Amino acid sequence: EVLVLPTPADVARRAAEVVIDGLTVAGPPEPALGLATGSSPLGLYAELAAAVRTGRLDLSRARGFALDEYVGLPVGHPQSYREVLLREVCGPLGLPADRLHVPDGSGRTEAELDAGAAEYERRIAAAGGVDVQILGIGANGHLGFNEPGSALSSRTRVKRLSDRTRHDNARFFAGIDDVPTHCVTQGLGTVLDARRLVLVASGPGKADAVAAALEGPLSASCPASVLQWHADATAVLDESAAAGL
Ligand code: GLP
Repeated sequence: EVLVLPTPADVARRAAEVVIDGLTVAGPPEPALGLATGSSPLGLYAELAAAVRTGRLDLSRARGFALDEYVGLPVGHPQSYREVLLREVCGPLGLPADRLHVPDGSGRTEAELDAGAAEYERRIAAAGGVDVQILGIGANGHLGFNEPGSALSSRTRVKRLSDRTRHDNARFFAGIDDVPTHCVTQGLGTVLDARRLVLVASGPGKADAVAAALEGPLSASCPASVLQWHADATAVLDESAAAGL
């Protein structure tokens, strides 16, 4: 389903409804919420926080699963996705910090990182899978950190970040040299296993990626095109992000 709304604030409100519906209609006692980072879902998180404050939503028994994490940032680095999610999601949404799961990017060898990625898949499975996965989209069509060329059935694993993504994300660091070169990300196959996908995108910078993802061929060259394959995927867009549709 593709929902096009006038402003980013409308996108946040409507996407929050789709997320809350997905978490509460099925009524799992300990729902698992898949969490994206980046600027796109911030308005949505603010709406969810408001729903928590009014008692409409209760995440105190939920579990959060991050999409991805940088490799090699020191523990507690403010731009590590664990810290970002603790700050922007756990506190405001009342999701207990010990219920937040993030891929482990601290491994020092390939074998350690691979073991951490496999462990992450086991944790998602042990939670019964993700009920609702919140997604943003990269300007190059990436999902999580699944860059163009990612296998459509991939699982959580180490990936090299593209130059485009490192430049896009340099705004969060002192400079491009401080942006990690690698990450651990849920695979596209992992994302597709979630029961519901909710993609949010706003602004003209996302228009090409959104058009390729939703109306282009299902192809590894646009990882977000896997949304077309999912039985319960909703894209909530503002008019400028939908301009290429
Ligand atoms: C990052 C994240 C993605 C996110 C993307 C878009 O690279 N790993 O999960 O969707 O950026 O970010 P933004 O929403 O800030 O445009």
